[in-house]
Amino acid sequence: MNPLECAGVRPGPAFEVTFDGRRIEALPGRTVAAVLWAAGVTSWRTTRNGGRPRGVFCGIGVCFDCLVTVNDRPGQRACLVPARPGDVIRTQEGTGHAD
Ligand code: FES
Repeated sequence: MNPLECAGVRPGPAFEVTFDGRRIEALPGRTVAAVLWAAGVTSWRTTRNGGRPRGVFCGIGVCFDCLVTVNDRPGQRACLVPARPGDVIRTQEGTGHAD
């Protein structure tokens, strides 16, 4: 039994987003982080110093480890931002701005 079945949840129809150009199916109500995790993606940012990979750490909007670029807006917390149909999600390098 998967978590949706366990909780008796029946989400609406899936929609599509892209991550670094890859098409990913998303369910309504999921955050960007949840959509990426469900697609097997666990890292979507690199650190300013050393370029080390980062993804979700706290999962509640506190640590800012999950920053990602969504629809050309860098610095979005993937664990808080709801995924929307057609979102263009990109790996964020450093601050996400041309430094
Ligand atoms: S994982 Fe900590 S703010 Fe998103």
